[in-house]
Amino acid sequence: MSKIVNSELVQINLNELVNQLEESDIKEILSSFVCDKNKEVEQFIKEKAIVFSAQGIAKTHLVYWSSSDEKWGGKSKELVGYYSIAPKTITIKKETMSKSKWKKICKHGDCLSVPGVCNLPALLIGQLAKNYHNGNDTLISGSDLLQLAIEKIKKVQAEVGGRIVYLECEDAPGLIKFYNDNGFTVFGKRKLDGDETNLKGEYLIQLFKYL
Ligand SMILES: CC(C)(COP(=O)(O)OP(=O)(O)OC[C@H]1O[C@@H](n2cnc3c(N)ncnc32)[C@H](O)[C@@H]1OP(=O)(O)O)[C@@H](O)C(=O)NCCC(=O)NCCS
Repeated sequence: MSKIVNSELVQINLNELVNQLEESDIKEILSSFVCDKNKEVEQFIKEKAIVFSAQGIAKTHLVYWSSSDEKWGGKSKELVGYYSIAPKTITIKKETMSKSKWKKICKHGDCLSVPGVCNLPALLIGQLAKNYHNGNDTLISGSDLLQLAIEKIKKVQAEVGGRIVYLECEDAPGLIKFYNDNGFTVFGKRKLDGDETNLKGEYLIQLFKYL
């Protein structure tokens, strides 16, 4: 009988790596990240993640699949994905949602200054991607990766406040369904910035989730 694979997902804040390793070693780790589905997320981790983490603009968390099973040749660790989180404020319009949802979110933001508009503190999942290098994407599901990001956000919000998480994605039906299935609701669109040249289309769909 084959032994059950003893594996777990382990997260590390990129800041911790920066404190422990030389920048060239970190760049080597990050250089193994491949995501042909979305070159923006690949470029971010290779070119921006370290600087954004250091500047406090967005914190990146690397997710490793780790196994001590003999089947995998003893201790083994693979970079399977990453996510980045940034603090923001969002504006949600009443017309984009049901009355009950609107009532709920109004409790957590400023809905009085402008009628029909709510401004809320929110954490942005700015990046979320699996690593397609060497089949590492098969070692984690997208939902599990997203759940790790959400759990991290819940912990942060439990300490500092806030109940909303949001993200922005390309207008691709499969991708929007993925986020809907994971409890996110569309609340708007944002025109692409001039430097977001690796993304398709002219705008991004914005989705939020109440935690
Ligand atoms: C998003 C992600 C983590 C989900 O992983 P998963 O649960 O294994 O699901 P899949 O890879 O099958 O993706 C779900 C759906 O989204 C689609 N999709 C995923 N990334 C996409 C992209 N960048 N552009 C267009 N569609 C995309 C898939 O084709 C699939 O659609 P389908 O169900 O119609 O086949 C993974 O697809 C990924 O890493 N994508 C590339 C990075 C990315 O685009 N991240 C989102 C940034 S907002």
